[in-house]
Amino acid sequence: MSAPLSARDRLFVALDVASVDRARVLVTALGDTVSCYKVGLELLFGGGLEFAQGLKAAGKTVFLDMKLLDIANTVEKAAANIASLGLDYLTIHGTDSKTLEAAARGRGTSRLKLLAVTVLTSLEKPDLEQQGIKDMAPADLVAHRARLARAARIDGIVASGHEAGLIRAEVGPGVLIVTPGIRLAGGVAGDQARVMTPGKAIAAGADLLVVGRPITEADDPRAAAAAFIAEIEKAL
Ligand code: C5P
Repeated sequence: MSAPLSARDRLFVALDVASVDRARVLVTALGDTVSCYKVGLELLFGGGLEFAQGLKAAGKTVFLDMKLLDIANTVEKAAANIASLGLDYLTIHGTDSKTLEAAARGRGTSRLKLLAVTVLTSLEKPDLEQQGIKDMAPADLVAHRARLARAARIDGIVASGHEAGLIRAEVGPGVLIVTPGIRLAGGVAGDQARVMTPGKAIAAGADLLVVGRPITEADDPRAAAAAFIAEIEKAL
């Protein structure tokens, strides 16, 4: 059994910036306060993969937000190649068992942990109907896909704080719940429709929290990150 995660190890700062130069300024400003970073599609195509590897080499925990979805052969081989980079977390779309199982085969016995995205939090019932999913509410589809992810031995599930309790009830302990859309009380929501405070998300069952703009766009990013970590600490 591994040691319980500290508050610092539960905060992932989303480096949603267009350039490595900007990311480097942020990481320097955040210093030792932040130990975990998420690199997503925007930065990835601005030199972000090399930057992510540099973060890892500097001792940080690195989460590659790729949201893979393709035929099984491609997902398996992409996951295998990503696993060889030595990073810590990778997202895949958890729409079906073929994708989930292919990613699990690809990462093999590497250290890479897989996180399944069940239903994007930007999608609502009319969007699912447009996809031809007419008989399920988003929450039911989230629960269904969480069960698929658990059956495929995926390490964790990305979910809004509002879904964390439902997912915990479906998958039980031992599956990580990773929650974006986190704001301190009174914080600006931005384009996130349903936000939650760090304390409430942890209480709802979240293990890891992903925070972007409230830290990256703060006047003092380091102080902002410290405030998130302090609230996580209090909730644990
Ligand atoms: O800036 P903000 O804190 O809203 O950033 C949240 C991060 O979490 C972004 O990188 C976003 O892409 C990611 N995310 C999300 N909702 C999901 C999955 C990922 O907001 N369902």
